[in-house]
Amino acid sequence: MMDIQKLKDEFVSLYGSAGQPEVYFAPGRVNLIGEHTDYNGGYVFPCALNYGTYMLVRRNAASTIRFASTNFEFKTEVPLDNISKKVDNQWVNYPLGVINELVDQGMNMEGIDLLFSGDIPNGAGLSSSASIEMVTAFALNAMFGVKLTALDLVKISQRAENEFVGMNCGIMDQFAVGMGKKDHAVFLNCDTLEYDLVPLALQGYRLVITNTNKKRKLTDSKYNERRAECEKAVAYINRKRSIRNLGELSLAEFEQLQNLIPDETIRKRAYHVVSEDARVLEAVHALKTGNLVFFGELMYASHDSLRDNYEVTGFELDTLVEEARKIPGAIGSRMTGAGFGGCTVSLVQKDMTGPFMEQLENAYTRKTGLKPGFYVAEVGDGAKKL
Ligand code: GLA
Repeated sequence: MMDIQKLKDEFVSLYGSAGQPEVYFAPGRVNLIGEHTDYNGGYVFPCALNYGTYMLVRRNAASTIRFASTNFEFKTEVPLDNISKKVDNQWVNYPLGVINELVDQGMNMEGIDLLFSGDIPNGAGLSSSASIEMVTAFALNAMFGVKLTALDLVKISQRAENEFVGMNCGIMDQFAVGMGKKDHAVFLNCDTLEYDLVPLALQGYRLVITNTNKKRKLTDSKYNERRAECEKAVAYINRKRSIRNLGELSLAEFEQLQNLIPDETIRKRAYHVVSEDARVLEAVHALKTGNLVFFGELMYASHDSLRDNYEVTGFELDTLVEEARKIPGAIGSRMTGAGFGGCTVSLVQKDMTGPFMEQLENAYTRKTGLKPGFYVAEVGDGAKKL
């Protein structure tokens, strides 16, 4: 657990003792199933974690925004009349992008001092970026009386990441981080944004998150490449049937239409999306009916498709999942998030989580030379004031 008093002390030592800061929190997320479907108008099934980003904020007398974080050395001060300019490739662009969006929505910005502190690993596929965006959006909306709804804040945060930061992500992460609920998973239709909070009744199982600790490279460019491939698939299919995105097709319909796609790679990408969408529906049903063993099988099938059809896994993620399959007590495992590195999520019998982590660590380290990180996930609430 984060030591809030320690953060407050750090805040005072950075910015002085003129009044108490307010404290806000937004979680990270883990996606249980439904990967690379969000930007195709498909289904996703993530949940919010009890790890995330804390933000301490207080008005200052200067006309500037001061940024600091316990996770990064870099600190800066941005004059209010200069907020629309990006700060190199720095972490502050996430909150700054959100501030710009809020100002566009009519927020009357004043000078503030900010201290961020995250307890989720950065860049590990657990949405540290959506978490810092949403904590900023939620806090400033409340402080400055902007009166936007939670869904508006989700959309603003996604736009900040797309347009200000320059990462063309879908809406899943911000949505899970903003709308998640303790002990529930968020079943979201990314086309209509209709959603349902499904009780995460895991019976005698636990979610174990394993970080490959692989340094991710080129993730954003590969991600954008996959998006473009899906758009190509839509264009081919539109020669015969008019669709806006792949999420509109059932598996049976896709099988009828797939010959319209001459390029095998593009066809495989589209097949992943359509089949993954079907798996999400099955997984939600499996969870609701208490069939966790089937839920686990769908997780393995999702990983296989991300490896073979969508090609976003890589040696480290594949090794974690392959080794998990061999360990007694594990009933499902898959990569989570964008891929290319980052984390897997596994469904493991509660009384076997200790031996599971030990065996997985040994096998993974032997094969990759890397030491993995482990988190037994607790499913927490979306963004909130503390
Ligand atoms: C990243 C993006 C999400 C989603 C996933 C893949 O986490 O931010 O919008 O596309 O990858 O499912």
